[in-house]
Amino acid sequence: MLQQSGFGIAVTGSGSCTPQVSLDNHGLSQIVETSDEWIAARTGIRSRRLANHGMSLCDLATFASQQALSMAQILPTDIDLIILATSSPDDLFGTAGQIQYRLGATKAVAFDLTAACSGFVFGLVTASQFIRTGVYQNVLLIGADILSRWVNWSDRGTCILFGDGAGAVVLQASEIDRFLGFEIRSDGTQNSSLNLAYKAQSQELIDGVNIGQGTFQPITMNGQEIYRFAVKKVPEVIEKAMFRANISATEIDWLLLHQANQRILDAVAQRLHIPPEKVISNLANYGNTSAASIPLALDEAVRQGKVKAGDTIAAAGFGAGLSWGAVIFQWGS
Ligand code: ACO
Repeated sequence: MLQQSGFGIAVTGSGSCTPQVSLDNHGLSQIVETSDEWIAARTGIRSRRLANHGMSLCDLATFASQQALSMAQILPTDIDLIILATSSPDDLFGTAGQIQYRLGATKAVAFDLTAACSGFVFGLVTASQFIRTGVYQNVLLIGADILSRWVNWSDRGTCILFGDGAGAVVLQASEIDRFLGFEIRSDGTQNSSLNLAYKAQSQELIDGVNIGQGTFQPITMNGQEIYRFAVKKVPEVIEKAMFRANISATEIDWLLLHQANQRILDAVAQRLHIPPEKVISNLANYGNTSAASIPLALDEAVRQGKVKAGDTIAAAGFGAGLSWGAVIFQWGS
């Protein structure tokens, strides 16, 4: 592959981590009025992993990162930049710094990036720009979420969907450019379709000075709106990224979508004329793990030997914002 202007980029390692505790659909039906049949038929999800009280996002993210570094055969001290894509940090001031400390990545600058379920794809694009311009050589990108903290466990329309987890990849400067094209988009007009919103109570400090202190409220979602949005916009953005990469759908080895709903995965693949055997799916076991879902599914597919060095992957994320995006890249150095 010819190198684009600037430095080449390769994705050289992956890792993942999910909590041990799992809750299957039968277990969920003890909490809300639902059934395994309904959830499996509408979403494809059978089970999800949940972080126990006391398990932090930093715990999951650090473990996933260590695996990714080991696969890429680089040391924590080699990392220039750590990006943590998350909507559920341990600390609103950012959790990436804690991960940097836990890894011993003493040279790395670290920050959080929030774009909900598009976070990993937005993170891939952000990381790639630092390498493309020659500023950094080794970037650790993590997608991690513990949305069980923010799910309304009495809302059967949302609590059936989400699970917790973390995935990570290492991106490195490379002579051969493996990062072929991307497109990322936002549409704030539909922002109210999916929210984890802050709600404040008015508190008067002194006469005429009212501040708003409160907390974030559980996830609210218009499921049908999000479904329609995903099925329409995701194929479009992948086509745009493929156009930029100058490749056609027949050249894609793996379609790696945000693992939200099997029906969405099937519909997008069908629109792009990509056969089902090229679609990576593990949502039956994990549900929607938000920013973690793409690197988690990628890491499993790599470790199972499905995804091999040189394979061309179309990865796409979509979710709150609303936001969506796609990246076309080849796996490995
Ligand atoms: N169990 C049983 N029945 C249910 C459940 C449930 N868990 N949830 C809803 N129902 C009922 C509804 O009450 C409704 O009943 P009614 O017809 O008597 O009113 C009926 O089932 C149909 O409900 P819908 O909401 O129309 O169901 P739909 O087919 O749209 O499926 C779903 C809902 C699975 C949420 C779907 O809309 C979806 O997957 N949307 C996309 C969501 C998504 O991907 N979100 C993640 C975005 S990523 C991010 O940024 C976090």
